[in-house]
Amino acid sequence: SEVYMNGKWLPAAEATVSVFDRGFMFGDGIYEVTPFYGGKPFLLQEHLDRMSYCLKEIDLEFEKKDLKKLIFEAVDRAGLAQNDCAVYLQVTRGKAPRTHHFPQQVEPTFLMYAFAVQLEGFEDRKLTIKLSPDIRWQRCDIKSISLMANTMLNSEAIQKGHFENVLFRNNRITEGSHSSIFFIKDQKVYTHPEGPEILSGITRRFVIELCTELEIEVIEEAVSLEELSAMEGIFLTGTTTQILHVTSVFQNDRELYNSSEAGAITKKLQEAFRKKTR
Ligand code: PDD
Repeated sequence: SEVYMNGKWLPAAEATVSVFDRGFMFGDGIYEVTPFYGGKPFLLQEHLDRMSYCLKEIDLEFEKKDLKKLIFEAVDRAGLAQNDCAVYLQVTRGKAPRTHHFPQQVEPTFLMYAFAVQLEGFEDRKLTIKLSPDIRWQRCDIKSISLMANTMLNSEAIQKGHFENVLFRNNRITEGSHSSIFFIKDQKVYTHPEGPEILSGITRRFVIELCTELEIEVIEEAVSLEELSAMEGIFLTGTTTQILHVTSVFQNDRELYNSSEAGAITKKLQEAFRKKTR
């Protein structure tokens, strides 16, 4: 399949990067994953705005004319114009002699491609998640391609038969290794506030708006580890995750929380989400 790299469409096998690319050497870059439902973009501008925020935060100047048009072209060229898919975008600082400080006047490396994703049937999936200490850095608001901690954590969860991790820092639950997390208690919905501890999830913000529309109270406050077992509902959100009901949470081999069926609030949000995306 084809990828767009540094201004050209190429077969993926022919798109190569310098060993001195700062993305390869330092993980010096950011990325974005933006969904298409049946070939139609969903919250594309929000994803592009987050990308601009991240570029600004890491002091990387990157301008791409007609970026939106190119994103649609990626979907077309992959033959996914009628399908559920997502577009991956990545900007690294580019090729430069190895120095810790950011080099001046370097051409960024830009990579983009579309890929098929399963966006149907999220309402019926059952999943268990694993509690893990949040060993990530302290700028989780930047969607950095340096994902060593996230991949270490999630591999451990998958090895133990879980789908995701629920991360905690200073006793407070932050998010998943690649998703946002919400809790339900006394008809209210809780989620960690925005800030450097979490990624500002596009789906997270959309779900908060849905709650407002549905007159469900949302409190942007972190849930502590002690409070976890008393929750009446837990769900994960994300671009490809959508809204997934969590059936159980494990701490090592101990089940701390169980809920076989999604409750009324989760179901209402899932239904509203489906209507907005289809
Ligand atoms: N992951 N938190 C983290 C740490 C994430 O990596 C993601 C997304 C989210 C959800 O954000 P959004 O709703 O904007 O997708 C939250 C992407 C999809 C990934 O790494 O593939």
